[in-house]
This record gives sequence, C-alpha cells and structure tokens, in this order.
Amino acid sequence: MAWKTLDDMDLAGKVALVRVDINVPVEDGRVTDATRIERIVPTVKDILAKGGKPVLLAHFGRPKGEVVPEMSLKVTLPALEAAFGRGVIFAEDCIGLPAKQAVAALSEGDILLLENTRFHAGEEKNDPAMAAALAALGDVYVNDAFSAAHRAHASTEGIARLLPSCAGRNMAAELKALEGALSNPTRPVAAVVGGAKVSTKLDLLGNLVSKVDFLVIGGGMANTFLAAQGINVGKSLCEHDMTGTARDIMDKAKAAGCEIILPTDVVCAREFKAGAQNETVPADSCPADAMILDAGPATVKRIEEVFGQCKTLIWNGPLGAFEIDPFDMATNAAAKKAADLTKAGSLVSVAGGGDTVAALNGAGAAEDFSYISTAGGAFLEWMEGKTLPGVAALEG
Ligand code: 3PG
Repeated sequence: MAWKTLDDMDLAGKVALVRVDINVPVEDGRVTDATRIERIVPTVKDILAKGGKPVLLAHFGRPKGEVVPEMSLKVTLPALEAAFGRGVIFAEDCIGLPAKQAVAALSEGDILLLENTRFHAGEEKNDPAMAAALAALGDVYVNDAFSAAHRAHASTEGIARLLPSCAGRNMAAELKALEGALSNPTRPVAAVVGGAKVSTKLDLLGNLVSKVDFLVIGGGMANTFLAAQGINVGKSLCEHDMTGTARDIMDKAKAAGCEIILPTDVVCAREFKAGAQNETVPADSCPADAMILDAGPATVKRIEEVFGQCKTLIWNGPLGAFEIDPFDMATNAAAKKAADLTKAGSLVSVAGGGDTVAALNGAGAAEDFSYISTAGGAFLEWMEGKTLPGVAALEG
C-alpha cells in the first residue's frame, strides 16, 4: 500500500477537502438507502477529532456540466446530518465565491458540503483549472470515494496531484478488503460471477480465470457458456454471437488451472414472472419453448462444496433471476452458505457491484459477509484488473 492514511496527516486547524461518494438513491426528495453516507462517517469524525475542518466534495447523478436543480446535493443534507449527529453547512457552488466564503467562515467542529462538482464541465474533463480551483479551497485532500475512483475527474484525480493527499477510512477499508480478496488472497479462492450478459463482463472473466481457483458462472451469462458447449438453451437469454468468446475463456481457464463451474441442472419456465410454473431439468434438457431462469439444486450443492473448500470468495452478480420468486433459490442458497462459512471463520467473503448487494440483502446474507463494497462500476473495473485513476493518484 503506497498511499497515506489520515494517521499520516497533520490536520490541526487545516481545511481537509474530502472527496466522498454520496451518489445515493433518492425518492420523493428523500434518501432511501444511506449506506454510502454511513460509510463516510468515520473519516469525517476522525478529521474533526484531529482538529481539521472537513469540506465535502461530491457528485450527484450525471448533470453533464450543467446546473440541474434536481441533481442538487442539498437533498442529501438531512441524511448527512442524521449520520454525523450534527448540522452540515451547504455552499451553493463547489468553486468560486460561494465556496470560498463558506470555507473562510468555518469554525472548528463545522462540516461543509459543497454543491455537485459535476455542475461544472471541468469536473469530468479533469480540467487542470477546475482541479486548481478546488485545491485552492483547502490544505489537504482526502479521497474517501473508492466507488468513484474509476473516474479520472478533477475532484478524484487532478486535485490529488495538487495537495498533500491521503485515503480516507472508507477508501482504505475498501482497498484492504479488495486487495485481500484478489491481489493477495488466501487460497483456494473462488469467484462467483453472475448477471445477464457475457459481453458486459468479458474483461472481468478474462482477468479472473488467471487469478482464482474456481469460477462459478451464473445468471443469463451461464446460458451463453452452455450454448458454447453445443447445448440447446431453448428461449433462454443467451448471446449466441458470444459463444466463441465463451470458449476462449474456458480454454484460458483450463490453461490457468481454474475450474469453471457451470449449471449442471437448471430451473426452466415458459414465462418470466413471479410464481411462473417451472420445472427442474438437466442443463442440456431445457425445453425448446422454455427459458432457464435459475440454477438447480445439484448445481447449488456443487457450489456449496466449492465454497466449503475455499478460504476466500469474491462475489459479483446473481446466479438466477433473483428479483422474481422462486427463481432466487440458487442465489439465496449459495449466499446463505457463504455467509454461514464466513460466520464460522473458514471463509473471507467480499461482494460488490451493481445488483449484487440487493441480491445478498434479499438472501438475508449480506450482514455476515466479511466485506460488502458500496462500489458499482469501480468494483467491476477493479475485478477486471484495471488501475483506478483515483487510487493511482493517491499513490503519487
Ligand atoms: C456510482 O454510483 O457507481 C458512482 O457514484 C459513480 O457514478 P458514475 O457512474 O455516474 O460516475
């Protein structure tokens, strides 16, 4: 780990510009899931405890360089105040006079939130002038937004090169958990990769087969791998133009000594709806007019055996159509097994990205996983083996 943490920084009397990711879901003007907000509390509290003045930099939505009132960060204030247990001051712009005046007026113990950085086009362009305008507001830069670290933006990358910089508590925890799961794991290590399409996870699968001992493939993308073996998958979601790629991934896995686990039995239905009549058949026997919506119990048993053999598990994506009952069976059962093994101390389990957290929450398993990342795209890019610009900038 080549980056500094808050412990390495002298913050007394200093203005700490803290990049956070509070790009949270909002409905009817209220934050509906405050997980990302809760994760930044330790950083903000530690800055205050060290006598620093935290000034939060964040984006919200994708306003594309325009001021879009519906994408104002003001909507997050009540949730931030509840999480911090104190008031939060708000500035109507993240640079220029409103920001400068709000920073100048800060007293010890105050927390300031600046308006959406993406209201300025310079943010996403990583414009040096925008990075300089942000940096001019503070003395040190703290990046606590792993989930935005795949973006090379002024507030995630450019600014880190202009001020003494460090990782916040949340960023450090994410990096520690993810490095422990893939860069330097205790073996054997298994990965679960699910989701609809092989085409969106090609780089990820290609990287994983050279890193893990077992790769469990589930969801719609498993159908493409079955089709690649000449199996007729009926009306299932399947990218028939990707079967050659799926074969390449299987060859690469074989050469690397990675065992790919595909469904050996499947749950099929003729309708994609909750409670649809269904049948469990061998993976090569999906009826021509039916679609595969979940992995069957024999497959789940094999996945559970693999988890039992492993010391580390990394999970991204559901194994079936988890959003409709009863096609969440394989996801729920496998997640529950991973959670139980983690609780028993025999497995380190890390999950993240897109639908994953919802699927594990639905299975009632998320709480017992060793670490649940709040990152979507950043988690995927990290699993692909890519360098995340926001992390690289902290490494100097
Ligand atoms: C996320 O929600 O995954 C992050 O906040 C990044 O958002 P973006 O995909 O709009 O850059």
